[in-house]
Amino acid sequence: MSYAKALSVGLTGLTGHLVEVEADVAAGLPLLALSGLPDAALHEARDRVRAAVTNSGESWPNRRITVNLLPASLPKRGSVFDVAIAVSILAGTGVLPLAPLQGVVLLGELGLDGTVRPVRGILPSVAAAVRAGVRRVVVPLACAREAALVPEVTVRATDTLRRLIDFIRGCGPLLDPPALPEAAPATGPDLADVVGQELGRRGLELAAAGGHHLSMIGPPGAGKTMLAGRLPSILPPLSDEEALEVTAVHSLAGVLPSDARMIRRPPFQAPHHSASVAALVGGGSGLARPGALSLAHCGVLFMDEAPEFGSQALEALRQPLEDGVVALSRTGGTIRYPARIMLVLAANPCPCAPAAGDAFCECPPPVRRRYLGRLSGPLLDRVDLQVRLLPVTAAQLLRDGEAPEDSATVATRVARARAAAAERWAALGCRTNAEVPGRDLAGRQWRLPAGATRPLEAALNSGAISARGYHRVLRIAWTITDLDGRDRPGSDDVSEALAMRMGRLV
Ligand SMILES: Nc1ncnc2c1ncn2[C@@H]1O[C@H](COP(=O)(O)OP(=O)(O)OP(=O)(O)O)[C@@H](O)[C@H]1O
Ligand SMILES: [Mg+2]
Ligand SMILES: [Zn+2]
Repeated sequence: MSYAKALSVGLTGLTGHLVEVEADVAAGLPLLALSGLPDAALHEARDRVRAAVTNSGESWPNRRITVNLLPASLPKRGSVFDVAIAVSILAGTGVLPLAPLQGVVLLGELGLDGTVRPVRGILPSVAAAVRAGVRRVVVPLACAREAALVPEVTVRATDTLRRLIDFIRGCGPLLDPPALPEAAPATGPDLADVVGQELGRRGLELAAAGGHHLSMIGPPGAGKTMLAGRLPSILPPLSDEEALEVTAVHSLAGVLPSDARMIRRPPFQAPHHSASVAALVGGGSGLARPGALSLAHCGVLFMDEAPEFGSQALEALRQPLEDGVVALSRTGGTIRYPARIMLVLAANPCPCAPAAGDAFCECPPPVRRRYLGRLSGPLLDRVDLQVRLLPVTAAQLLRDGEAPEDSATVATRVARARAAAAERWAALGCRTNAEVPGRDLAGRQWRLPAGATRPLEAALNSGAISARGYHRVLRIAWTITDLDGRDRPGSDDVSEALAMRMGRLV
């Protein structure tokens, strides 16, 4: 035998394609040539594969070896093909039978010592293999649980190339994915901890119910960070389709915990303001890593101390926020990662940020204006809800009155409101009020009676809000109505919505 082939999977973004790794072993000067548009990491595969094979106790064929990865048109990234390359070479020299690997996809990186090491993106890779009709995969042991999340496929694992070689020769078994430990009950921070801040709590509930972006401006210690961290606790759990997509993104970023489970709760990402643009939107060499924006897909991206983010970072968020997708241009094409998020911004009103409130501010007015102005153009404009928080008073913190509502109670109202909105907008293809285009809100079918929108028209005519702001207020008014279980917004709803939009105190 001088020719053999093995199967693997290559990823472009979240999309995977079957890759055939073929090896031809011929007489001639000892040489290993790799072809099929490999990137730098793949060239390093040459050295890894050779060392791994010899350190697994097999002899390296001192012949002319050509390895080709097909389809050639597909850019191949990363080290995931190592195992398939090693096996195809050994089979090509005739020291391994091929039959046991018919239709089996091999995924994994090789260490120089012959260990099979975990790779990023196992979940989307296995899912792609299944979609292509494959029913058996062999993966690194450390990724086996993750691979086993994909239905309709038999997952076998190996920790070393040696074990895989023994299996192929029929002299030993592969490993089963480790059993999943009992799931610990999900415990996150709860809204019951937040005292007072009625307006902040209202903003959070409206944001959750309508899918609106939210900004919270207030003095230090008012509870902005506290409130934002509790938004996921009142959002509905992910659908099966969302769960698969979110878990796949986290797999690609290499941030799934090793007891890998499907992510069922909306994710929460809070990048620091010093984070690089790549950390925010994604990037890096080889298989591009999704950034915080994509890790927050179907969940919350929280930008604490938002004005402190660099202008490049703020700018980089603009397009993805609009499209719900991050596009990263790479050699060999553009990679897209999903990024449908709820944005939550928190900020102090000014750089000096007195805890006791704005009355004690010592900043010159231009400094104050500039501070929040950094956010205005690109981001704040897209934020429906703009809430002002006041300092929490000692009286509120010490009061033994009624306990604050907990997250479960609020989540029930949110789920009901979301269901009402999804049903109403189904024909438009929208799931939440935040997604409904302005022209539909103002169109014949959904236009509100003049009596209801009077406060809004006054604000528009006085220049207090823009035409875009007009539609945003309408969206919030619908959310208020949904939370209340009513059919159509009235003028009270529109007035409250206007106040929530303008960051004024009701
Ligand atoms: N409304 C509140 N109810 C209960 N505790 C609160 C509240 N607000 C603040 N705290 C307490 O103060 C701490 C700080 O709150 P948090 O970090 O949310 O404030 P912040 O508004 O984000 O302030 P900063 O502007 O300094 O970031 C919390 O960990 C909590 O102990
Ligand atoms: Mg904070
Ligand atoms: Zn100040």
